[in-house]
Amino acid sequence: MTDKTPQGWTFIDAGGDFRLPDPHRTSYLYFPLANETGLRSAITPTGNGDIKTGQHSFLTPPVSVEDLHNTRSARNFWVQIDGFDPWSATGNSAAQLVADSRETGYEAVTLEAGFLWQRVTRENRPRGLKATVINFVPSSQDSVELMSVTLTNTGSTPLHLTATAAIPIFGRSADNLRDHRHVTSLLHRTTCHRYGVLVQPTLSFDERGHQPNHVTYAVLGADQDGDAPVGFFPAVEDFIGEGGTLDWPEAMVRDLPAAAAAGDRVAGYEALGGLCFAPTTLAPGDSLSYVLILGILAAGESVEALLADYGSRARFDLWLERTRAHWRGHLSSVTFHTDDARFDAWMRWVALQPTLRRLFGNSFLPYHDYGRGGRGWRDLWQDILALLLTSDDDVSELLLSYFAGVRFDGSNATIIGSRPGEFKADRNNIPRVWMDHGAWPFLTVKLYIDQTGDLAFLLREQSYFKDHLSHRCQQVDADWHAEQGSALLAEPGEPYWGSVLEHMLVQHLTAFFNVGSAGNTILLEGADWNDGLDMAHHRGESVAFTALYAGNLHELADLVLALSRLDVTQVELASEVLPLLDTLAAPTDYASPQAKRALLASYFESVRHTVSGKKQPVALADLARDLAAKAAWLRDHLHSQEWIEDSQGRGWFNGYYDDDGQRVEGVRQAGVRMTLTGQVFTLMSNIASDEQARQIVRAADRYLLDPAVGGYRLNTDFGAVMPSLGRAFGFAFGHKENGAMFSHMAVMFANALYQRDLVREGWRVLAGIYDQSQDFAKSRIYPGIPEYFSDRGRGMYPWLTGSASWYLLTLVSEVYGVKGQLGDLLLQPKLLASQFDGQGSAGIQVLFAGRALDIRYHNSGRLDYGEYTIKAVRIDDRPLPVDLHDGRALLSRGALLRLPAGQLHRIDIQLGAAPGESL
Ligand code: G1P
Repeated sequence: MTDKTPQGWTFIDAGGDFRLPDPHRTSYLYFPLANETGLRSAITPTGNGDIKTGQHSFLTPPVSVEDLHNTRSARNFWVQIDGFDPWSATGNSAAQLVADSRETGYEAVTLEAGFLWQRVTRENRPRGLKATVINFVPSSQDSVELMSVTLTNTGSTPLHLTATAAIPIFGRSADNLRDHRHVTSLLHRTTCHRYGVLVQPTLSFDERGHQPNHVTYAVLGADQDGDAPVGFFPAVEDFIGEGGTLDWPEAMVRDLPAAAAAGDRVAGYEALGGLCFAPTTLAPGDSLSYVLILGILAAGESVEALLADYGSRARFDLWLERTRAHWRGHLSSVTFHTDDARFDAWMRWVALQPTLRRLFGNSFLPYHDYGRGGRGWRDLWQDILALLLTSDDDVSELLLSYFAGVRFDGSNATIIGSRPGEFKADRNNIPRVWMDHGAWPFLTVKLYIDQTGDLAFLLREQSYFKDHLSHRCQQVDADWHAEQGSALLAEPGEPYWGSVLEHMLVQHLTAFFNVGSAGNTILLEGADWNDGLDMAHHRGESVAFTALYAGNLHELADLVLALSRLDVTQVELASEVLPLLDTLAAPTDYASPQAKRALLASYFESVRHTVSGKKQPVALADLARDLAAKAAWLRDHLHSQEWIEDSQGRGWFNGYYDDDGQRVEGVRQAGVRMTLTGQVFTLMSNIASDEQARQIVRAADRYLLDPAVGGYRLNTDFGAVMPSLGRAFGFAFGHKENGAMFSHMAVMFANALYQRDLVREGWRVLAGIYDQSQDFAKSRIYPGIPEYFSDRGRGMYPWLTGSASWYLLTLVSEVYGVKGQLGDLLLQPKLLASQFDGQGSAGIQVLFAGRALDIRYHNSGRLDYGEYTIKAVRIDDRPLPVDLHDGRALLSRGALLRLPAGQLHRIDIQLGAAPGESL
């Protein structure tokens, strides 16, 4: 409609509230609204989007992203003024769209939003009428979205007007959008309550066995004084009329009387929350409001209770304030102070994103139209990384419960329900193993132990997941039957329990031996982190994640040794696991993929259906030695076999073998094939030497960097569909998992660069993502990080992405260098001179050891990274004896625990010239 460069959003306070002019002139924009109870909404600036509690309970018609401009089924609110065409307060009338597109300044529209509410102000200038529409989901126990519409007469003559809410009620499962949509409308029983329209379908439709339905879908409303509507349009077809549409309905255009009154019923029709309010006169300067309650009620929940709690302007305002306070409180634990206030406020939205993914999973927002709810295994573990930094809650029980999803063959259930212990093999019942899944829990547990010092967590016990699949989903266990439940049994028939450490060992040891013969690195199986590498499940290998497993094995060895702090000298492991610690008794020839696979095959047989339940002690030193030996072998192997160089001395690691056993990356006649993933984990796991790390950066700069899309692409253009690697290469190049600037891997690249002390290079990645995200003219998204940027630079799949967790983690633990070390607090800043403010300060507030800490680095000489070191540390203005070496400071947990809880403690860190650096 317009090719003008949009103005973009600006923050209107430090807390993160923002304003966007002309939001309706950007397509595909949507905002999430949700509460912990389970209501999940998406809302566009024009009230489009949908409202649901799950896959099978949509209040409004389910939408995916193209529907945002295709469908007319928005949250609509009509205003009829004598002598004029009907007008929509949410911008959804055909005539208004036409007028607004033709006449500059016909409508002035501004969106404001914060945690988690949206307000759109729309002024119809020729008519002198302004509508302010607010939507939010109260932070309460109810599954409701609240909406208020305030009309203001901005003209000089009284307006005689009538208001009508018109919100389509879908009232059933998203599956019914393309599966019996009409037939399922026949199940609808629609009632006009005094305050609105209620739909309770008789059955919940499922041809495998229809179930009685007890859920009620409601659109309720009242004016500001709590007065009820005076009539209703409960059926879509009565409202739109013959030949009409929801954005030009006959009932409004011809000013028809309400079709129904309180107490009336309609059965078997597509339903509408059509609520007609009494005609009224609005004097110049005056305003009046309406409140709508859009709810999904479980059996036994009462409409009257909802009306009492939310059904007036005063209650609406009260809940809006409570909700804002709730979210602001939730986000207050980690905040940043840099030289760029816009960045600091933007980070608050990034910090919100992991919580949104906890609430939405990878489903239920318009781009995320593939899920059916539940949460994926790798996302689950990574989203907790952020939780560990932002919340004071004890997450050990949660972490422990997730380990019940690990199978004894090292694979795991992939979908996790909302209740602890709820696991499923796969959302589409496809037996599939993602080979990276075993690696993520370790990263999370490591962070947990570093933040808390709770080493004993490694020894806590948990059951294992068991279903009909065995041998990493390659075989079916015919002896298994669903009645035995989803826990692995030991011989006597009781569930088998093993330590958290044992679970992680099973994950890593099975991976170590599960190699392909092409490269002798770990098999790709169903895919790795890149879900799109899903067509190489026979012979494909992920060298990239072999590197992560190698790094983990190395760190696991250290963690095992750290257990001696608990006066432990040995751990008990299932006797079946012992052969996998082969170096202790009968070493396997690691150079032989066949030997490795043979050992694994006999292990799989031994744990196919049950385990013996017998455990054997293993000395910590022995265990650590075996793990370290495996890590070292992998490191040397990748070093000698997978390094690639071009003719200019740039180098990188090959990340994959395809299903034909061919190496994927390298310099070919048709061009260079390189992936970012192959570099991230070889850097992170210290497999790349320092010189190789620099060569990798040069190669990435040459082959992957594209400033037009905010940074490093996931891969070069392979120029082929690659049926022996995965669907990703069927995607057009530059999109999603085929060569987009994919935020998650890019942020992990930044993290790896920081870990390798390539600080400027790391910051370039983080800054690039920020610049692209916040540049509205390019990205067209609200504050936050999108999953990726399209090749036109647009932010795609906003809100739900693992990159947010990693961005926060990298900023806290690497850039600001605030990190736990087995419970103590290590300060090791890697800030650049440009990241300090005018006074040379940079600050961060974090939670650590149950204490709120306001950490401020002082660098009055604005020295750059590498030039400064920590000179002194003061807590609450008192000097603190700290362990200072190599420019780092270690604050003992004991010292922090002595600080009174419940107040903010200031830690001032003086930075000064490092020895050998002159000022
Ligand atoms: C998404 C998925 C994630 C997957 C990635 C690459 O990334 O959620 O599990 O690893 O695509 O296929 P996200 O942006 O959410 O991290």
